[in-house]
Amino acid sequence: MKKGFKILSLAGLVCFSSLGFAAEAALPHMSAAQLKANDGKNGHKAYVALNGKVYDVSKVDEWKGGQHYKGMVAGTDLSSNIHLSPHGPGIVNDLNLKPIAVYP
Ligand code: HEM
Repeated sequence: MKKGFKILSLAGLVCFSSLGFAAEAALPHMSAAQLKANDGKNGHKAYVALNGKVYDVSKVDEWKGGQHYKGMVAGTDLSSNIHLSPHGPGIVNDLNLKPIAVYP
């Protein structure tokens, strides 16, 4: 019985890990042109790239019109500027934002 349980646990772990991998692999790739087009202006969505992932910040008040603090704008990769923010990269988790694409 003990051995059976071990095998079941292992099978569960393998299933769980591969599911996680599948979810990650399912993210589409976004081009620089697509990112740039989603600048939050003129009714366009506001997308930002951060540490290899793209997030939709269209519904975040602080990103209204694609504008943020310290001259940050949507449609760009913020990875090299995130250290200038008071909140850091964890802000995407705080806001419960899920990545919509991989970038670059
Ligand atoms: C995915 C990227 C980002 C998201 C979703 C985001 C979101 C937010 C939100 C929700 C706030 C207000 C609440 C809080 O402070 O936690 C905020 C404040 C702020 N963010 Fe960001 N941010 C992002 C990137 C950046 C970057 C790259 C900078 C770089 C300069 C920055 C600079 C700031 C500053 C200076 C404030 C504070 C303003 C103040 O209250 O004095 N953010 N951000």
